[in-house]
Amino acid sequence: MPQSDVTSKPGEIVDDEKLAEEIQRIVATNRGHAGALIRVLQEAQGLFGYLPAPVMRAISREMKVPLSEVNGIVSFYSFFSTVPKGKYVIQVCLGTGCYVKGGQKILHTLKKEFDLEPEEITPDGKFSLENVRCVGCCGLAPVVAIGENVHRRVKPADVKGILSSYK
Ligand code: FES
Repeated sequence: MPQSDVTSKPGEIVDDEKLAEEIQRIVATNRGHAGALIRVLQEAQGLFGYLPAPVMRAISREMKVPLSEVNGIVSFYSFFSTVPKGKYVIQVCLGTGCYVKGGQKILHTLKKEFDLEPEEITPDGKFSLENVRCVGCCGLAPVVAIGENVHRRVKPADVKGILSSYK
């Protein structure tokens, strides 16, 4: 996960002044460009790892756009997140094809063995968990996607080995 000196650990912003400075800098470099708000949001997410409320408020203030507009864009585009994400995002598919082939059991294993719940991040910031609906490989169900990798026909017993391959 990208880190800046504004954060002490994933998901925790500790310095409001530095936060304001970073947002001012990002806004200044994008001012006047087409789609400036989206570019600013992308850069801010790249810097902080996600877009918590203080970051969205600072962007709204600095760009002089209503907070509702910022919120609207962040909730419209799935690549924006208002919750912290791990270095690796584990996406467990719970679409129909994966669900009937045991997707739910994979999720249960992650909860039981790694204490991970959807939308949560491990204390070391390495993994976070998401449920997704069909990643387009139904014939290889159940599927777990981690970053660019799609793990196919995953069994609960495979989960530990898969996660240990991510450093
Ligand atoms: S339902 Fe899981 S890949 Fe389609």
